[in-house]
Amino acid sequence: MTDETTKPQDDTSPSTDVAGTAAQASDAQDTSSVADEAVARKRGIKSYVIRGGRMTQAQTRGLDEIFPRLGLRHEQGELDLEALFGRRGPLVIEVGFGMGKSLCEQAQANPQTDFIGIEVHAPGVGKLLDEADKLGLTNLRVYRHDALEVLADCVPAGSADTFQLFFPDPWPKKKHHKRRIVQPAFVELVRRVLKPSGHFHMATDWANYAEAMAEEMAEAPGFANTAPAESAPYVPRPDFRPLTKFEQRGERLGHGVWDLIFVKQD
Ligand SMILES: C[S@@+](CC[C@H](N)C(=O)[O-])C[C@H]1O[C@@H](n2cnc3c(N)ncnc32)[C@H](O)[C@@H]1O
Repeated sequence: MTDETTKPQDDTSPSTDVAGTAAQASDAQDTSSVADEAVARKRGIKSYVIRGGRMTQAQTRGLDEIFPRLGLRHEQGELDLEALFGRRGPLVIEVGFGMGKSLCEQAQANPQTDFIGIEVHAPGVGKLLDEADKLGLTNLRVYRHDALEVLADCVPAGSADTFQLFFPDPWPKKKHHKRRIVQPAFVELVRRVLKPSGHFHMATDWANYAEAMAEEMAEAPGFANTAPAESAPYVPRPDFRPLTKFEQRGERLGHGVWDLIFVKQD
């Protein structure tokens, strides 16, 4: 089982208070985040908490200077992907990229693939945009908005080849399990945006959440587990998934890691 008594101390990164009050550092004055939270409540899954936090110069630069070019807004409505990227390549969507380390690495390593990241944590969005600009990435766009809203209203149905959810907030206390993002309403939105045969890839370092993900997906219509019999319901850690910040932290704490990959059936 995973450690339920420690929490990350880096206040520039999204933090998960494993005592149960998950919180993502953000700009306390940010009214759009407050609006996002209201929206999330309306949608029925309130999977994050915004709380105040400092922004570094690079993060502020990312939000102020790069967001206008590489950022996407929920108000823009449904995306025209070909116009957005100037081509129609394979599309990867990642929800909850945190500080964006692994998403940035993937976008850099796969220039033929287009990536859309969705995150509510302002410092993380700023950091990823600052990095993406410094690396000259053209195949990455980012929302700073609640993922359920973006998936329902902005991502065209049947458009994504891969959907990634790496180390979502575990909400370990039973009374907070309703805040976990992997629930039927979310899974249905993932299915909506995936192409037929598209992959839904989840990873977590919380054994109890891994079990819940496997159970939820076994019940979800239109998905089949890709796990081989030897390791089912989990897949061996794929080489193509870069180490994320939360995974690194989990490794330090001696956590296990569970990967689950489901394929969308027609
Ligand atoms: C525990 S962190 C993991 C970050 C990163 N994937 C990693 O492994 O380092 C989970 C992230 O999901 C984000 N998040 C949670 N619910 C969200 C939602 N509904 N929409 C967008 N982001 C969300 C949080 O802000 C947080 O940054």
